[in-house]
Formats: sequence, structure tokens, C-alpha cells
Amino acid sequence: MIGRLNHVAIAVPDLEQAADQYRNALGAKVGASQDEPEHGVTVIFIELENTKIELLYPFGDKSPIAGFLEKNPSGGIHHICYEVDDIFEARDHLKSTGARVLGAGEPKIGAHGKPVLFLHPKDFTGTLLELEQV
Ligand code: CO
Repeated sequence: MIGRLNHVAIAVPDLEQAADQYRNALGAKVGASQDEPEHGVTVIFIELENTKIELLYPFGDKSPIAGFLEKNPSGGIHHICYEVDDIFEARDHLKSTGARVLGAGEPKIGAHGKPVLFLHPKDFTGTLLELEQV
């Protein structure tokens, strides 16, 4: 069921500084910042040869990453995203194994314009997982 690693998301306290570091120190291909009001984040994608890095910064008052940055003031890995062929099939299968889907349990359109879901980190060895249908 699980497909490619789509991206690793890193929450950062300063989006421009993090983007500059990837651009200048690491020589990465850094995209433009995009606000995602529905997800409460501003994101910058960094294209690597085999995957992407998603830099996350809070957008709005009720950002789901605000608490994470409070606990991790210098930033940190927030989630990893795996690709799936069929997000409903993946969700139903994972629920049948006892995994909890966050929110209302229905896919939302993510930063790439594709349906995504998040799974509870306590059900996956302390790692917040995002599934994206590709
Ligand atoms: Co993501």
C-alpha cells in the first residue's frame, strides 16, 4: 500500500531564514512560499532529486504547528508524507488496524492540490504521518 516518500516536513521559526539556508548553504532548489489557510500553515517546498522538503511556518491564530514550535523553538521534523494510490482504501485499511485518522477523517486538499490525510503520531512510533494520493 505505501508508496514513495513524498516529503519530510520541518516546522521552522523563521521561514525566510530556513529557505535561505537551504538555498545558500545547501544549494537546494527552493520554491516560493504559499499560504495554506485551510491547513493553518505557510509552506515552502524544496525540491531534492529523490523527494521534497516542506518548510512549515504557522499561518493565522489557530495554526496546528504553533504548539509544536512552542515545544521546539528552534524547529524540528513535524511529519513525513507517504504516497498512496487510493487514499480512501488506505484510510479504511489503516482504521481497520486501529490507527486513528486526525480531524474529521475525510481527506483534505493538500499543498500540492491532491487529497491528504494525517494519522495520529501515537499510532506510528511517535511520528505524525501524512498520506497523499498521487
Ligand atoms: Co506535508
